[in-house]
Amino acid sequence: MGDLQDKVVLITGGASGIGAAAVTTAAQHGARVAVVDFNIDAATALADQTDGALAYKADVTNPADMDAVVAQVVADFGGLHGAVNNAGIGQHKRVLTHELPNDIWARVMDVDLNGVFYSAKAELRYFAEQRAGSIVNTSSLAGLRATEGMVSYVASKHAVVGLTKAIALEYGPMNIRCNAICPSYVRTPMTEQGFADKSLMERVNKKHPSGRAVTAQEVADAMVFLLSDRASGISAELVKIDCGAAAR
Ligand code: NAI
Repeated sequence: MGDLQDKVVLITGGASGIGAAAVTTAAQHGARVAVVDFNIDAATALADQTDGALAYKADVTNPADMDAVVAQVVADFGGLHGAVNNAGIGQHKRVLTHELPNDIWARVMDVDLNGVFYSAKAELRYFAEQRAGSIVNTSSLAGLRATEGMVSYVASKHAVVGLTKAIALEYGPMNIRCNAICPSYVRTPMTEQGFADKSLMERVNKKHPSGRAVTAQEVADAMVFLLSDRASGISAELVKIDCGAAAR
């Protein structure tokens, strides 16, 4: 029996990269998965090849979309037990803070912070009623320490850490857990361009004591564990998946 047997799990940004690995891994652990993404073609393709999964189109920056998708998932599956609020974007390129266009700042904050808030709010409304639920928010190692030239990403991911702690405190009495995952570099469509640059790849490999980047599967495995009842004593935790990089 898998760690998520008979659970219903919603995963935003589930169509690609880390989210897609989480969809597949949760399904392998027995979950029925709602793949939520604004790229509905990719979400549908993944859901079609995943046992017990369904695809939903939603933009996490639109609160009405998130309210509607949670209601639809509950109607389709007959419940909801866990959620991974994972949809996110990177900053377009590294620039000093005073050079960052305001619209890029606003867009990154909207997807990477507001999107997690709107998703969690819709999920918590349901979880609070049923007095149970587990949320995993995707932050980043950049949510725990700064990196130069990425102020919108660093600020939004730090804020996701604060949001995670606040939710864990407020909803702990209702038997609801909330944790954040903080991965270092993972090769996905989001980072593909960066990884194509050999010097960045060498820097990443040097930064990680393992000498390699983190894999999406390694992040997905931690997400599934935190969603599951095996992690019933863990809340407000910020789980670094960084092959030891933060020890430097
Ligand atoms: P990705 O680009 O492969 O996947 C992101 C998914 O989110 C895509 O399917 C995209 O369509 C969806 N998405 C983006 N904006 C959306 C919106 N407004 N509404 C609904 N769906 C939306 O990226 P990746 O690398 O898998 O990233 C997933 C999460 O992991 C992000 O939050 C990212 O910040 C975080 N992360 C990634 C790291 C990496 O090195 N790849 C490291 C640390 C954190």
